[in-house]
Amino acid sequence: MKIEKVGVVGCGLMGHGIVQVAAQGGCTVVALETEQAYLDTGLGRIEKSIAKLASKGVEKGKMSEEEAKAWAATVQGRITGTTNRADLADCDLVVEAIVEDLGAKKELFTALGEICKAETIFASNTSSFPVAEMAEASGRPERFVGLHFFNPVQLMRLVEVVRTDKTDEDVYAEARAFGEACGKTPVSCKDTPGFVVNRLLVPYMVQAINMFDRGDASAADIDAAMQLGCGHPMGPLTLTDYVGLDTTLSILEGWCERYPDEPAFGIPESLRTKVAEGKLGRKTGEGYYTWDGDKRS
Ligand code: CAA
Ligand code: NAD
Repeated sequence: MKIEKVGVVGCGLMGHGIVQVAAQGGCTVVALETEQAYLDTGLGRIEKSIAKLASKGVEKGKMSEEEAKAWAATVQGRITGTTNRADLADCDLVVEAIVEDLGAKKELFTALGEICKAETIFASNTSSFPVAEMAEASGRPERFVGLHFFNPVQLMRLVEVVRTDKTDEDVYAEARAFGEACGKTPVSCKDTPGFVVNRLLVPYMVQAINMFDRGDASAADIDAAMQLGCGHPMGPLTLTDYVGLDTTLSILEGWCERYPDEPAFGIPESLRTKVAEGKLGRKTGEGYYTWDGDKRS
């Protein structure tokens, strides 16, 4: 089976990017949101990003102005939005990118298991939850994978493809091929907490927040140290703001509950406080830094 029609559930930070790269890869894509306003925001971001990539293509001499216009219109033309789950019924693949809440994800997959055709492959973009639990909830564990994209999806070149003990070999191969069609390099991961990247990255972010909370160094100095000393494109506190403090906290809470004896998964106090205050990072204009739109102010 070739994946031609893709549903993406959630059109937030990650979902809008997944919609876009799937359309750039040649798929017809339906984006599902809970409310029209969220859908409009996500689709608006896609439009801006496509325009940016088209103008960069021209700047770099990869396309003429006319080719860029045609490319943008073709990609845009493959995307539609909906707030009705039933519109995903005939998708070949559905990628879930809703909030990092296992209960919400399981509820969604149970419903999609009833709605979607028997051949539909399901994938979750979860950062931290066991893929197998969502696979069971869907009622079709053999047609279920993790497809973990990275933020910002349009620019990051990796996708982790996660298989459970029950994932069918052909389904796994289709999911990898989809990741490649989206322009990503797939790596294979087992269904372990955080897969490869987040198992390493999130404890590192936690250590940086702890340093900041203890007053060992300022946020700007911690970030500059990792950028200039280790060649990272962003420092860990900027990255926490970029990922979202709410998402980072949800990842850690899930892990603390399941692995209470793992010291690497501790929750920094300032992370809890800031989330309670609605300071979620770049998306709300304040986290460990203040933000002016997409830029740190
Ligand atoms: N679409 C199109 N273009 C975009 C874009 C988007 N979504 N986002 C940024 N750009 C463009 C910018 O407009 C800019 O264009 P110009 O050069 O014309 O100005 C260009 O890309 C570079 O962007 P920036 O100037 O903002 O900054 P940068 O050079 O630092 O690159 C970055 C940005 C690629 C994000 C880089 O900082 C980076 O790699 N950061 C690390 C990101 C990272 O670690 N991500 C993983 C997060 S963890 C995760 O995702 C997993 C999880 O489960 C939590
Ligand atoms: P987000 O809050 O930006 O977006 C989530 C979107 O899902 C929202 O627009 C919300 O309205 C929508 N939504 C919630 N419940 C829904 C439902 N039942 N049906 C349809 N839409 C629903 O979150 P995000 O940062 O895009 O994260 C989404 C997922 O991707 C999470 O599982 C997260 O852990 C994972 N992830 C996040 C990052 C990151 O850097 N933020 C990176 C990789 C993976």
